[in-house]
Amino acid sequence: MTEGLKKRPGKTLPLIVKASLTLAIITFIGVALLAGTWELTEEKIAEQRRKAVLTGLNQILPAESYDNELQDDTLIINAQGFFKHPKAVVVFRARKLGQPVAVILQLTTGEGYNGDITLLVGIYSNGKIAGVRVTQQRETPGLGDAIDSRRSDWALGFKQRALGDPIASQWTVKRNGGDFDQFTGATISPRAVIKAVRRALEYERNNRKTLYHKIPTTEQQDQSNKEPSAQ
Ligand SMILES: Cc1cc2nc3c(=O)[nH]c(=O)nc-3n(C[C@H](O)[C@H](O)[C@H](O)COP(=O)(O)O)c2cc1C
Repeated sequence: MTEGLKKRPGKTLPLIVKASLTLAIITFIGVALLAGTWELTEEKIAEQRRKAVLTGLNQILPAESYDNELQDDTLIINAQGFFKHPKAVVVFRARKLGQPVAVILQLTTGEGYNGDITLLVGIYSNGKIAGVRVTQQRETPGLGDAIDSRRSDWALGFKQRALGDPIASQWTVKRNGGDFDQFTGATISPRAVIKAVRRALEYERNNRKTLYHKIPTTEQQDQSNKEPSAQ
């Protein structure tokens, strides 16, 4: 009886260890699989997001008009005072054969009827508007939301406009003596967008050189630091 009791722990201990090991291996494989799937999903989501951004940018600037990677040639502008909004402005720079083609500014105005309106303003290097698209807004459906490019063609009215076309005093809605259409019963939303577009044009004009300035890659920097070769 005492011998039997003494033998038991010796037999059951390896079994417990075996079971624990199996459980640990299964858990490890499970976690590894989960982590792998999560990483793959993350990558896919990032890729889809990148594609969606590019589609939006290409609605302003056709893909054939530039040859660089728009989404990798960006600038972040912290000019909250100028744009009168705490969000930084993102600038996508389009180039062809290294020459400036256009910039697309992604900016936000807080002057909408229901707060923030985010828009893309494409400006060619000659100062003319390539296109405007409202990408995020919370304006009233059926009233102010016609500023949204998914709701109406209103924003197409900015194409080829520039500072001076129309003159400064006419950068507002027709109801206020301006050059741009308003909507029936809604002038606050279009006024906010018109003001934001004009601000983008002014920023581009005042900072054209900085906006197109290409930050040298590490490789280029390394080469520029090298002593010129004596020939
Ligand atoms: C419920 C409600 C929602 C409204 N939504 C908007 C809107 O999204 N955009 C807008 O410009 N005006 C909207 N308006 C109308 C504005 O209050 C305002 O009357 C109109 O834009 C004309 O403004 P103004 O007299 O300053 O030109 C809304 C009015 C009401 C009562």
